[in-house]
This record gives sequence, C-alpha cells and structure tokens, in this order.
Amino acid sequence: MEKISENKSKILVIGATGMIGRFLVSASIKAGHPTFMLVRTNTVATDHDKAKLVEDFKSRGVVVVTGDVHDHGSLVGAFKQVDVVISAVGHKFREQLADQIKIIRAIKEAGNVKRFLPSEFGSDVEHVELVEPAASVLHTKTELRQVIREEGIPHTFVCSNCFQGFFLPRFGQPEAEHPPTDKVIILGDGNPQAIFVNENDMGAYTIKAVDDPRTLNKTLFISPPANFYSLNQLVSLWEKKIGRTLEKIHVSEEDVLKKIQESSYPLSFQFAIAYSVFVKGELTNRAIDPSIAVEATELYPEIKYVKVEDYLDCIM
Ligand SMILES: NC(=O)c1ccc[n+]([C@@H]2O[C@H](COP(=O)([O-])OP(=O)(O)OC[C@H]3O[C@@H](n4cnc5c(N)ncnc54)[C@H](OP(=O)(O)O)[C@@H]3O)[C@@H](O)[C@H]2O)c1
Repeated sequence: MEKISENKSKILVIGATGMIGRFLVSASIKAGHPTFMLVRTNTVATDHDKAKLVEDFKSRGVVVVTGDVHDHGSLVGAFKQVDVVISAVGHKFREQLADQIKIIRAIKEAGNVKRFLPSEFGSDVEHVELVEPAASVLHTKTELRQVIREEGIPHTFVCSNCFQGFFLPRFGQPEAEHPPTDKVIILGDGNPQAIFVNENDMGAYTIKAVDDPRTLNKTLFISPPANFYSLNQLVSLWEKKIGRTLEKIHVSEEDVLKKIQESSYPLSFQFAIAYSVFVKGELTNRAIDPSIAVEATELYPEIKYVKVEDYLDCIM
C-alpha cells in the first residue's frame, strides 16, 4: 500500500468510478493524500468491473463513502471529512454536469472545503466556440463556474485538453475503433493543432494543484509543449512508426457539420468536439490571460509527462 501522509490535504473524488475520476483517485493515492471516494450503492451492487475497481482502491487505503449527488445529507457528511472536493461526473447524461449545483450547496453547508474542482477536464469552456450539442452541454460548465465564483467557493478549473487514451488511438475520429493500418479519415484540412494529455499526467498535475496557492481561483491549463500536433502531423508520425503510407480520406468541414446533425447523442457530442478541436483549432488559437490562468507544465516541471511520440509506440 502507498504511504499516506496525515499532513497532506484530504481529497474526496466524486465520480471516481468513471473514466476520468479513477485517474484522479490513483494520483491522489500516489501523492500520499488521505483519499476518499463517493460511491453509489447501486453501482457496486450491479456493476462487476466498478465493484472490483472500488475494492482495488480500498485495498490501497482509499476510504469509500456511500453517497449520491442527489442525496444532500450524504454529500455534507462526506465533505465534512475532507479538505478538497474534486468532481468528475460525466457528460454522457446531459443533466449530470448541471446537477453539480447540488455539490455547491453541500459545500456551502459543510463550510470546511478549502478547494473545489468541478468536473471540467477538457477545453476552456468560457473561451471556445462550439456547435450544438457540445455548446449547450459545455455551457453548463460555464454556468457552474459563474455560480462557484459568485458563491466565493475556493476553486481551480482544470483544462486538460484532449485525453490521449480517447483521442490518439482513433486519430481524432470518434467512430474509429483502432489505429489506422491502411486508410485514415482526416476531419477538415488536418492543419489545426490539438493538445494531447495523458490521463495519468492529468491526475498528477491536478493533485499537485489542489494545495498550491498559485492555482487558487485560477484556471489550470495542462498543455505539454511536446504534445501539440495537427492531424496531419500525427498521421505522418504514425506512418513513420508503422513504416507505411496511409490513404488519406479528408472529410470537408461541411460534411463534419452534417455528420453532427445526423448522429444521435452522445456521438453527435463527440463529433461536435472533434469539429471544434480538429477542424477549427479551438484549443490552440487563443492566447491565455496569465491573470486568470496558469500552465501546469510550467508550475510542475518535475513531472515527466507522456509524449505523444511515446504513447503511439504503446498502441502499435
Ligand atoms: N478532455 C477529454 O478528452 C475528455 C474526455 C472525456 C471526458 N471528459 C470530461 O471529464 C469529466 C468526466 O467524464 P467521464 O467521461 O469520466 O464521466 P463518466 O465515465 O460518465 O463517469 C461519471 C462518474 O460520475 C458518477 N456519477 C454520476 N452521477 C452521479 C451521482 N448522481 N452521484 C454520484 N456519482 C455520480 C458516476 O458514477 P457511477 O459509476 O455510479 O455511474 C461515474 O463515476 C467530464 O467533465 C467530461 O466532460 C474530458
């Protein structure tokens, strides 16, 4: 079991059984924080894989608290035991992000939470242009930011750009099931750059930030300089690695927009994100205002992040 330091802040993760939340729990354990996870009773009773994940975390010293975002008493009870609350609820069901208003109410009542990190972990939602359905789903994150600021809740908003595990094996194409071997679909002209972040690194940077005064009430960007790639650059790197030239099938901007309209949710959401990132270049076409934002790779240069180049070796 990892060594837990009683001097470090106590961290609770909501959404710890989700795709992203599990990396936050792992990073918190690795950094020696007393770590708590809020778990729904029904989940462990009905989902074998998640029950196993919870058992694994328990064996590594994590305190499992039973609760639900819709159960105010369970939230207040859990929050009173910790210093930091991180939410990683998902966007697959549209209302989940909006329901975080209940977390804010419970934080106000508990009165002891030193830092709240709402479920963000993507783009800077206040400053990206999005099409539907991503626009309205992610607008919920913007509204939540406003409430957090108005309520004076100490916070950090983590913008971790594109997760490697989700975007790289598909080369940005939501419907792809594996890395390309003979043909590759490129959305748009393939020139705008995106930023790819490893999930474990997102966890490590986020956990570093929770006690750091430099990230208090700021947006924390995670933008590893070696991981800026356009789809064209990514494909040519992949071609070098596999020693083969791929047939490139370009999908026009107009056809990507049509695809969004024709798909049902959540695929339409994924295409809308891909449109914003890979066709419009929304992750890299804006300057960051240093008065409200900080860059994780500059604050924590000691973290040796996973480079896209090395990640691709693992999926060959
Ligand atoms: N940048 C990127 O590339 C990227 C990719 C994916 C997601 N994201 C972002 O990352 C965040 C997390 O998304 P995700 O895909 O990891 O979500 P997810 O896999 O859908 O997981 C959602 C988690 O929230 C929990 N949850 C849902 N409703 C709850 C409730 N009422 N009470 C308590 N727990 C509840 C779920 O618990 P159960 O196990 O009980 O259902 C699960 O643990 C989102 O903000 C999303 O937009 C970013």
